[in-house]
Amino acid sequence: MKVVSVKNVSKFYGQKQVLDNVSFDIEEKEIFGLLGSNGAGKSTITSIILGLEKQSSGNVVLFEGQKKNLKKRIALVPQSTAFYKDFSVEKNLRFFASVCGLKSKQIKPRVKFLMSWLSLEPFKDVKAGHLSGGYQRLLNIACSLVHDPELIFFDEPTVGLDPKMRQMFWLKIQDLKAAGKTIIITTHYMDEAEKLCTKLALMKNGKMLVIGKPRELISQYGGIKVMIFNITGGVKKEDIQKIRTVLNQFTVISRDELLFIPFEQEHTFEKVIAVTEWLMKKGYNISSSITKEPNLEDVFLNITGEGMKQQE
Ligand SMILES: Nc1ncnc2c1ncn2[C@@H]1O[C@H](COP(=O)(O)OP(=O)(O)OP(=O)(O)O)[C@@H](O)[C@H]1O
Ligand SMILES: [Mg+2]
Repeated sequence: MKVVSVKNVSKFYGQKQVLDNVSFDIEEKEIFGLLGSNGAGKSTITSIILGLEKQSSGNVVLFEGQKKNLKKRIALVPQSTAFYKDFSVEKNLRFFASVCGLKSKQIKPRVKFLMSWLSLEPFKDVKAGHLSGGYQRLLNIACSLVHDPELIFFDEPTVGLDPKMRQMFWLKIQDLKAAGKTIIITTHYMDEAEKLCTKLALMKNGKMLVIGKPRELISQYGGIKVMIFNITGGVKKEDIQKIRTVLNQFTVISRDELLFIPFEQEHTFEKVIAVTEWLMKKGYNISSSITKEPNLEDVFLNITGEGMKQQE
């Protein structure tokens, strides 16, 4: 099922166009990553899908047009805290559960489940405002998901979390996918998007640039791989020249004891293996070798001409 279908959506604020003919579909159980630097239009399109903003033109269809109980089927997990700091963890959850219309006999098991799933049980009587930053974010998730929605939006869910907590968030998001949920996530972290998302959309200045699976985008737009050899004593100039000629690759370079051999992704390792054997035959000692694979950061750079990290 197409859980979200966005067709030719544009948005103007006054004269300023912030979305330009954006289209994409999100299938059930997808973890859909919306990427793009500040001002790309990620929050605007998210707000339009959620019905918080109205598009200037185009269409958004949710759940293939089934309109029944729409609000109960959707959740936004905001970046800022959405709970009451003076309420305990459990009281917050009970409060949100009743606001979301859960029947009293449903509330207890749901709250229990959420506290256990998000490791909040030991803190159930602690005031939310006294939790550490990471646990406040977990409580945020719990409060947003009390009604067990099918489509969940996460806005920059891991900003400011330490690596351990980030990993925990990833696992929780994967749990949600395993439970059949559809997830839309905006993030500036490329490693996160690459590991977590089943599909990625890259936006810039209100336009959708590319959409695809992380692996597909990397092989299509990631550019070259680089093989890096560490060779004791370095490689002689004339031998570097020979490697360049044999590989028909004139960007082979040597720096101190390192030899860099770039090659197109579709090329097999065969040539590089041949070079390795040739170097060994010539008496060189290769102490180590690694391959630097292109990643999503490279995709972003190649498509937009700008880095993501500097945008944070
Ligand atoms: N209410 C508004 N009035 C006028 N312009 C707006 C309004 N809301 C957003 N914009 C503009 O729309 C553009 C897209 O903003 P949006 O918040 O969607 O970007 P974003 O991709 O979410 O960025 P970030 O990564 O910083 O969250 C920006 O140029 C922003 O200034
Ligand atoms: Mg935003």
